[in-house]
Parts: sequence; structure tokens; C-alpha cells
Amino acid sequence: MKEKLDSILREAQQIYYQIKNSDELENFRIKFLGRNGLLSQLSENFKHLTEEEKKEIGKYFNFVKQEILKLYSEKKELLTKKEKIIFDFSHPGSQIKLGKKHIINQEIETIQKIFFTLGFNIEEGREIVTENENFDSLNILANHPSRDLWDTFWLNKKSYLLRTHTSAHQVEYLKKYNVPTKFVIIGKVYRHEATDQRHEMQFHQIEGVSVGNGSNLGELKSVLKIFFENYFEKKNLEIIFRTSYFPFTEPSLEIDLVCIICNGRGCNLCKKSGYLEVAGAGMIHPFVLQQAKIDIKKYYGYAFGLGLERLIMLKYDIPDVRLFNSLDLRFINQF
Ligand code: FA5
Repeated sequence: MKEKLDSILREAQQIYYQIKNSDELENFRIKFLGRNGLLSQLSENFKHLTEEEKKEIGKYFNFVKQEILKLYSEKKELLTKKEKIIFDFSHPGSQIKLGKKHIINQEIETIQKIFFTLGFNIEEGREIVTENENFDSLNILANHPSRDLWDTFWLNKKSYLLRTHTSAHQVEYLKKYNVPTKFVIIGKVYRHEATDQRHEMQFHQIEGVSVGNGSNLGELKSVLKIFFENYFEKKNLEIIFRTSYFPFTEPSLEIDLVCIICNGRGCNLCKKSGYLEVAGAGMIHPFVLQQAKIDIKKYYGYAFGLGLERLIMLKYDIPDVRLFNSLDLRFINQF
């Protein structure tokens, strides 16, 4: 009988290593420890033993039963631990890092709010425009040398192009809104030009247009002054308005702000001038107003085109416009 108990224990030890799940463990329990299990069946034979043998075998029987019970509870603990790891739904997941808005989009929202407060409608326009919208309607006629001011990405389909400036929408939105009106168009523009610290092929412009009875150069200057002061959160900024040329404004201006990198002393970014050009502007040429069917005897207006990246560079001390599109997270995550 002792041998029989030994063989039962050996079998239990072997099976113990093969058990992989709770069903197999239950079969183990039934086979060895159950009411009709091997140990139970063996104990039926006790009645044929003498009192002396009963004592001895009984002791060994209990030892084997305890060993098998130990195997059973060990495996049970192991399995429940394993199952817990697999099915612990309350276990905190690994943290997913959320993305965030690019600095350009953050600044667009700030700028939209400022112009909205100043009474301007907010528009985006389209990135693909017609030759007429980008040039002809703005008094930039075919074969005129002024077209060379804008190095253009032409699209395969004849007379379509990637807008070189947001001025391409002046006539469209003047037609959409009844005069008097004020609106800004904020969006991406494209130019086929060599890049450097100040020039990108793809950048953003903020086009402002105001047409009405009081839309004169004085208002243009004060709107831009209020805009700059709010955007840079700084009073008494030095703003340079200097004369310039655009075919769609008369008179035309260019607007410079003190270069933040060198504080006006002159550096590579500002071409040693101490100032950075941030916008073109002027009184809208009557030709353009006429394209939008506006009575030029009754109404006049101004327009400006700010370079968004240049403004952000000045605000955050960024020395190179190419960083915005670099996809370098060390740069992007700073903002
Ligand atoms: C224009 O694009 C005119 N449409 C602006 C305008 C609007 C004039 C309304 C009159 C009335 P300009 O090419 O100068 O002008 O560009 C305007 C501004 O865009 C510049 O002052 C500069 O801040 C920015 N800019 C121009 N080229 C680049 C470039 N390659 N990379 C980054 N910013 C640029």
C-alpha cells in the first residue's frame, strides 16, 4: 500500500508541472483529492489492515495527501497570479503623450481674437487660386514685370496656382461682404524662392482689408499699432512705416519692427539694418475696388499683409524662419 501511495504522489508531482490553467487544476484535484479520487479509493482498503498497519499506513497516507494538497494550492496561487496579470483591467495603462497645437496655430488663434475685437470678420480663403485672383484682379497684369515680385508655383491645370499672397482674396471677400466692411484672411501662402533665415517657401500671411468712409491711412496706422501692442503685449513699440510699391495699393507702405535678435544693432537676420520687415500695406488701388464693383466715388479703403512667421520670430526670439517647418520636436515642444 505504501508503494501504491508513492506511485500516486509521483504521478501527482509529474502532472503538477503540466497544469496550465484552472480547468486542468480542477481535473487534478478531482483525480487525486476528489471524493472518488485515487486517495479516496485507496483509503477503502484500510479496512483490511490490522490496527498496527492502519497506524503506520494512515500516517503515510496523511503525509501523501498533504503533499498533494500543497501541490494543488501552490499551483492555484500561481495560476491566479498569472490570470490576474492578464485580466487586471484596473491596472493603469502606460500614459499616452498627447500632441498639442503647433506654435503657428496657437498664434493664429491669438491674432484672430485681436482682429475680431477690432471689428474684423475672420476668413481663411483657399490655398489654390486662379491667376486672375492672385494677379489680374490686383492690377498685376500678364507680362508686367511686377509679377516677378512673386515667384509662383503654377499648377498643371492652366491658370491655377498656389496663392503667393493672401491679397488673392481681396476682391472675392469685398464682393461677399457689403461695404463698409472689415475682414482679415489668415492662411498659408507659397513662393518658389530660395530659403534663408527670413525666407521660407511656405509661410503664413494675415491680410487685412477695410473699406468704408473712414478707412484711411490714419486708421490703418492706428489699427496696426493696436494690433502690435496687443500681440506683443508691449506699449510704445517702435513701428517704421516707409514708402514702397505694390501694384494694388496707392500709396504703398512697408512696415518694419525693431529686430529682436540684435535689438536694432544689426545682425544677419535683419541684414544689418536693425529692423525686420513684417508687412506690406497701403490704400487699395481704385482698380481693385472696381473689380469688386465698389463705387470708388463713395468708398475707399486700406489693406495690409502681415507675415505671420516674422511676427512669431520677433515675439519669441526665433532666429530662423525655417525652424517652423523643421518638424524638430525640440523646437516645437518649447511652445
Ligand atoms: C505681399 O505679399 C503683399 N500681398 C502684402 C500687401 C497686402 C501689400 C495688402 C499691400 C496691401 P510681401 O511680398 O512684401 O507683400 O509680403 C508680405 C510679408 O510677408 C512680408 O513683409 C514678410 O513679413 C512676409 N514674407 C514675405 N516673403 C516671405 C518669405 N519668403 N518667408 C517668410 N515671410 C515672408
